[in-house]
Amino acid sequence: MTRVFSGIKPTGHLTLGNYLGAMRRWAADDQYRSDALFCVVDLHALTVDHDPARVRRLSRQSASLLLAAGLDPEQCTVFVQSHVDEHARLSYVLECVATDGEMRRMIQYKEKAAREQRRGGSVRLSLLTYPVLMAADILAYGTDEVPVGDDQTQHVELARDLAVRFNQRYGHTFTVPRATGPAVAARVMNLQDPVSKMGKSDDAGPGIVYLLDEPDVVRKKVMRAVTDSGQDVVYDREERPGLANLLEILAACAGGDPAELAGAYDSYGALKKDTAEAVVEVLRPVQERHRALSADPEYVDGVLREGAERARGMARPTVDAAYRAIGLLAPV
Ligand code: TYM
Repeated sequence: MTRVFSGIKPTGHLTLGNYLGAMRRWAADDQYRSDALFCVVDLHALTVDHDPARVRRLSRQSASLLLAAGLDPEQCTVFVQSHVDEHARLSYVLECVATDGEMRRMIQYKEKAAREQRRGGSVRLSLLTYPVLMAADILAYGTDEVPVGDDQTQHVELARDLAVRFNQRYGHTFTVPRATGPAVAARVMNLQDPVSKMGKSDDAGPGIVYLLDEPDVVRKKVMRAVTDSGQDVVYDREERPGLANLLEILAACAGGDPAELAGAYDSYGALKKDTAEAVVEVLRPVQERHRALSADPEYVDGVLREGAERARGMARPTVDAAYRAIGLLAPV
């Protein structure tokens, strides 16, 4: 059976981008057609300036939102990264296969390191090695497919490269994974700055729709989205990024094709109104389930406990095999 692995980082409140680019597919498709694992990657949240209590809170909230989005613990494994030691164990070994140059070429590293420096902070070493830990997440489970949004494809490529290199040098150990993307909304953009990704770690702002935003807040944010100059509604990502973003969000939420939907509108106002309502309807059931789960923290704990146990059992043989292959003596 196909093995699927994906993760979400508890560095901020989850956004519509996370949902449309990744979570929704995990719940609607991946968990039913594959042997799938979905992970709250809390170790990754420590790579930038962080508040310990906030990371703990967001880890629980993210797990609850994954379940609220429809992940079913009977169909897939949901767990927290730091509960399974194999991720960190394998990451070190992969650091001995990856190169410094490779890490410094990663687009997200360059962007995030520049942002930390602009804020006057220093860049954590773990930010540089982040993609290696992500490769470990993926490779530890013999993953075939990694369903992610566009922004993660370079990291998945690196995981592929490391798997191939390790296998060539030390003997076949890892499955070589590949990224899979959604049909639409692979890159949901910030409503106020439609040439930038809608990112949860960004400073909170009117351009980001959070999964837990109240309906009226969602409506306000969408109605105030920046649109491009011009009157006609056309789908053109390069020339009209604001409009294209709204059309893609509408297509992802209500169905249809962004270019065809463009033809159905003759004003920006009508497009925004329909987009806002479509987003509200998509978020409504997720928010309802999240409210119910918040009242039952023991259920969420139980899911995470069982998930970690299952994940450990799956990862350990592969990570042990990698230790032996690279030359580490088996415990005596
Ligand atoms: P993260 O937490 O930033 O995002 C989680 C998932 O949501 C997708 N996504 C988006 N898709 C479309 N439009 C957007 N604006 C948008 N914002 C986020 C991301 O592509 C991702 O699929 N490094 C990863 C977490 C990670 C991981 C892994 C993923 C760690 N280990 C192993 C897959 C496999 C990250 O920061 O995702």
